[in-house]
Amino acid sequence: MEKVIDEKKQGTKLVMDTVAGNTKKLFIESYGCQMNFSDSEIVASILSENGYNTTNQLEEADLVLVNTCSIRDKAEQTVRKRLEKYNAVKKTINPSMKVGVLGCMAERLKNKFLEEEKIVDLVVGPDAYKDLPNLLSEVEEGRNAINVILSKEETYGDISPVRLQSNGVTAFVSITRGCDNMCTFCVVPFTRGRERSRDPQSILEEVNDLAAKGFKEITLLGQNVDSYLWYGGGLKKDFDKASEMQKATATNFAGLLSLVAEAQPKMRIRFSTSNPQDMTMDVIETMARYQNICNYIHLPVQSGSTRVLKEMNRQHTREEYIQLIDNIKSIIPDCGISQDIIAGFPTETEEDHQDTLSLMDYVKYDFGFMFMYSERPGTLAARKLEDDIPEAIKKRRLQEIVEIQQKHSAYRTQQFVGKTMEVLIEKTSKRDDNQWSGRIPQNTVVVFPKENYKVGDFVMVKITDCTSATLMGEAVGYSKE
Ligand code: 5AD
Ligand code: SF4
Repeated sequence: MEKVIDEKKQGTKLVMDTVAGNTKKLFIESYGCQMNFSDSEIVASILSENGYNTTNQLEEADLVLVNTCSIRDKAEQTVRKRLEKYNAVKKTINPSMKVGVLGCMAERLKNKFLEEEKIVDLVVGPDAYKDLPNLLSEVEEGRNAINVILSKEETYGDISPVRLQSNGVTAFVSITRGCDNMCTFCVVPFTRGRERSRDPQSILEEVNDLAAKGFKEITLLGQNVDSYLWYGGGLKKDFDKASEMQKATATNFAGLLSLVAEAQPKMRIRFSTSNPQDMTMDVIETMARYQNICNYIHLPVQSGSTRVLKEMNRQHTREEYIQLIDNIKSIIPDCGISQDIIAGFPTETEEDHQDTLSLMDYVKYDFGFMFMYSERPGTLAARKLEDDIPEAIKKRRLQEIVEIQQKHSAYRTQQFVGKTMEVLIEKTSKRDDNQWSGRIPQNTVVVFPKENYKVGDFVMVKITDCTSATLMGEAVGYSKE
């Protein structure tokens, strides 16, 4: 199940139910992380109250929005290609169409899109979506519009997202925005601003609403979920200035997890992404305490070399990361763990690279997301370190990392063969219309014959075979009523 994220792949188009009376057509497409997909649902919700229905036909759109990613250069190149395509359609078929850029590229490049490049009508950063109706009236009057102000407060807690192209079974719920970690390679603190948490009450309301609508699994989303801290609003970094009362009644991530797990004991709870330095024993113990919190942690490591981790400003050593893995495995022995790793960070030596491979050998991740280092303008690494690892070496190191991961993924899936696992059915298998596809708590995909089961059922499946990415099996009965 190892993945090298392919930034060239098509963005995901979002289509929602038609609202009667809405006459304008919105084509909205998303690239990048889950947070972007979740944000596009917020945008669609805002615009559906302002006269827009979604369409998946670019040519007929009044408004085209692309929610963008800046994480690596390739991600930005992909969006640029899409902008060329929109502009071609605008020139040849639909001259009145307006084009807007949302998300991380909007925040990073700001009015360059409007002034130097003149390729879009609208630029909106990740904290400014509530301003879209105002910005659109500017655009309708023939002016370009921009809002890239980052906020101390904005969490969109009061907006109920429209679930776009949802399977009706799994949904994302965002709990924090922004990131304070300042990893030297990462553009996110610049594009998404400082870290802030969402009111647990509004999170609970959203989760309860999803449960009432029949959803069976939620993923709590944030750039750094373990650092969740609600003390009445405000930035995480200002917690020190909070009153004694606010400090005493604050909710941390472990607290939030228990609240959600208890509110909906029949729902599966997942979360992403965890940062090793912020993951506490409390969180691991809370996972163990509630049967409905899935035994799965996405725990990016980036490198297995303490020296490189230091250059990356990762706030943890190789040994501390290993200790965390040992703690997780001792408290939750069957916990699935996945990684993010960057190959070819500046100054990375062959020895550092070997440290990454040996760390992987120690952990034997279930799967992972692996990337070549891509220098991002404005980051600390770009300012302080030369991008000195030749492309060919980056490629070869990435290849070695991917190969080891493939071996470990195969090892992990093999461990499930012969066992009977709980699967939540999500959709028809891509390869076979007669098979369901779902996931076990550890996040590994399972396919099995449909029989009389249906989407949204929790089913016990006896695992009979596997590839390195997928488990195959046969249902033996329902897991929950
Ligand atoms: N180059 C390559 N990969 C990066 N990531 C973040 N920034 C960069 C970069 N400049 C990867 C990290 C992170 C994941 C979301 O993307 O592994 O965990
Ligand atoms: Fe891309 Fe990161 Fe921004 Fe998500 S937060 S859109 S992955 S740069």
